[in-house]
Amino acid sequence: MTTQVQPKPLLEDRTFLRHFWHPVCTRDELETAHPSGRGPLAVTLLGNRLAIAKLGGKIVAMDDRCAHRFAALSKGTVVDDTIRCNYHGWRYDSSGKTVHIPACPELPIPRKAATNTYQCVLKYDLVWVRLDSSWDCTEVPYFSDWDTPDMRNVVVPSYGWNTAAERRWENFTDLSHFAFVHPGTLYDPAYDRPPIPTVDRVDGELRFAIKPPPEMIDKLPENAPMGTFTYRCTMPFSINLKLELYKDSSAFTLWTTSCPVDDTHCRNFLIISRAQKDNDPDHVHTAFQKVVLQEDQPIIESQFPAEISAEEVSLPTDKVSNQYRKWLRELSIAATEGKEAFVRTLKTGVRDEPIKA
Ligand code: FES
Ligand SMILES: [Fe+2]
Repeated sequence: MTTQVQPKPLLEDRTFLRHFWHPVCTRDELETAHPSGRGPLAVTLLGNRLAIAKLGGKIVAMDDRCAHRFAALSKGTVVDDTIRCNYHGWRYDSSGKTVHIPACPELPIPRKAATNTYQCVLKYDLVWVRLDSSWDCTEVPYFSDWDTPDMRNVVVPSYGWNTAAERRWENFTDLSHFAFVHPGTLYDPAYDRPPIPTVDRVDGELRFAIKPPPEMIDKLPENAPMGTFTYRCTMPFSINLKLELYKDSSAFTLWTTSCPVDDTHCRNFLIISRAQKDNDPDHVHTAFQKVVLQEDQPIIESQFPAEISAEEVSLPTDKVSNQYRKWLRELSIAATEGKEAFVRTLKTGVRDEPIKA
């Protein structure tokens, strides 16, 4: 039997992703994981299994492994601002230290009786975790409309895809697939030649803008959010897509981000932000996005291997993904050189050449 040769992944080392903040669950998912409303909830980030819980009013992320006999802490119970392992009852405080061992409470607690904890914050109703805060050089990604008074935000339940987070990012920003994957939903198939935007690097974000053909708007469902598209994409996986809708010039933002669960899986988060004057109930928008996602998912999960590869054939019309890949690769290499190189590669602005008419 011969084995099919697998293309080499573009990112041989994804350790650099540990320096970024990543979303792991929605606030709602944490609060409904257990009747207490405080977790714990099991999540996986970059192959690390974590337990998330609310202890003493703050959200904590710790390795999902009890130091005693390695049972999962996410199977435990929150008791008095500790997580109690439900195998033999060891209790962990928010710093990950064991503070109580029921079997021998009179003995000193062994020094190694602890589990690692990670920086964890709640923002945009999502729980964010940074596995490596030693360089402390990244922030929770940009979202234009979370606090905008005239906008209404809907946090959609997260959804898992069997692919790398990079592929989900590329799918969301891909301009050439609309005519083929979303005909009649988001696009008129006649417009199959995408524009090529200028793509700039600005302060840790990729920025670009496009204008889908306004003349096709009459042929699409009324709730297809079509208008001028302005993207601000905080590296590595967040996308703030701001639209000025063709139908009535109102503001509409699709904000998406992905958790890199491991090299071949991602968990995705979507927040739909629209003008308050839009009287449609939330479910009209969430149902429409679900249809779009169901069109995307099978084709994206068909890409194999799940990891992006330099052996894929790129075109000038793939400029957004080409620029994204280039930056990801530079970041992955810079991280091996140290903090200074990494910060320089992340923060240095790069202006694209304007497209000549
Ligand atoms: S395995 Fe957790 S207390 Fe024993
Ligand atoms: Fe799509």
